[in-house]
Amino acid sequence: MVTAYDAPSARVVSEAGADLILVGDSVAMVVLGYDDTLQVTVNDMAHHTAAVARTKPEAHIVADLPWMSYHVSAEETVQNAALLIRAGAQSVKLEGGRKRLPMIERIRDAEIPVMGHIGLTPQSLHAMGGFKVQGRHAEAARRLVQAAKSLSHAGCYAIVLEGVPVQVAEMVTEAVEIPTIGIGAGPHCDGQVLVYHDLLGLETRLAAKFVRRYADLDTLATEAVRCFADDVRSGAFPSSRESYHLSEVELAALGISGL
Ligand code: KIV
Repeated sequence: MVTAYDAPSARVVSEAGADLILVGDSVAMVVLGYDDTLQVTVNDMAHHTAAVARTKPEAHIVADLPWMSYHVSAEETVQNAALLIRAGAQSVKLEGGRKRLPMIERIRDAEIPVMGHIGLTPQSLHAMGGFKVQGRHAEAARRLVQAAKSLSHAGCYAIVLEGVPVQVAEMVTEAVEIPTIGIGAGPHCDGQVLVYHDLLGLETRLAAKFVRRYADLDTLATEAVRCFADDVRSGAFPSSRESYHLSEVELAALGISGL
């Protein structure tokens, strides 16, 4: 699974053969410039989901329910999930363990598939006291296994495991029949997810330990724009071949000799 937030990134992710596209609320940080994911609304998520869906990707589209879109009432939760489905998602993802079970059941009752997300849940940033690895102690590890089991029983079709020790991810993966998808959770998950901008080196701010940059597109893009700026300043851009020209006939009609 790889995140995408617009048509070009969705085309890349799908054509590269990823199974799932996550329209993640990480859009807040890597596209919209916020410091956390708490700033995006369900309308923002629908806007980005629709852009991804317009590309009609082969990959399954899962859209994040943002913070406060599934915390107030079951009615609001189902309406918000429906908004993302109408925008083009095929399933929704929400963060949290046992306390989310009633909302997960209501979304499932509306025939909308739900992906869970436990461990380091960025929407709980302030409650966790920062972006911190979770499940480091035996009791916390046991609670994560229990949370995963209850999400599975409630009908989640997969669970993202974020920011947990390798052994905890392995315990969870063994404990549930549904697939686990890891990010900062080591190699024993059934699948892995990375944020598009991290994977491609478009996000250059401090990367988490688990990020592997497969390209350095930020450097390439900066260099390309620098070349453009240099060419404009030196007059090397645009060339004659990159320009439109009047025909000889029209030039003659204007009394201009061929340029
Ligand atoms: O929003 C997101 O990108 C995510 C992934 C980190 C799993 O939820």
